[in-house]
Amino acid sequence: MRGGMALFAAALFCGLLAACRTGAGKGGESLFVTHCAGCHPNGGNTIRAGKTLGRSDREANGIRTAEDVAAYIRKPGQGMPVFSEGMIPPGDALRIGEYVVGTFK
Ligand code: HEC
Repeated sequence: MRGGMALFAAALFCGLLAACRTGAGKGGESLFVTHCAGCHPNGGNTIRAGKTLGRSDREANGIRTAEDVAAYIRKPGQGMPVFSEGMIPPGDALRIGEYVVGTFK
C-alpha cells in the first residue's frame, strides 16, 4: 500500500516535470518531434503564425493543461489534422501535452 502510494506520487511528480522520462513508451519530446514539429517547430506555427504553442497564444485559446492539449489534437482548429487514438493513444497524447505545456512558455 505504502509502495503503491510512493509510485503514484512519483508518477504525479513525473507528470509535472516534462523532462522526466522514466517508464515505458516514448517520451513527450520525441512524440512531439514525430507528430507535431513539422508545423510547430520550437513551438511555433508555420501555417498560422499567430497560433503558436507558446503560453499566451495557447491560453488565449483556452488550452492550459496537458489534458487540454491532448483533447485539442482530437478536435483541432482549421489547418491542423485530427490525430485519432489509433495514431496517438491517450497516454502518448498526454505525454505530448506535458511536453508542450512544460516547454513552450
Ligand atoms: C499539418 C500541420 C500541423 C500539425 C502536424 C500539427 N498542427 Fe497544431 N496547429 C496547426 C494549425 C494550422 C493550427 C491553428 C489552428 C487554428 O487556426 O485554430 C494549430 C494549432 C495548434 C494548437 C493551438 C495553438 C493556439 O495558439 O491556439 C495546439 C495546442 C496544437 N496545434 C498542438 C499540436 C500538437 C500537440 C500536434 C502534434 C500531435 C500538432 N499540433 C500538429 C497545424 C498543425
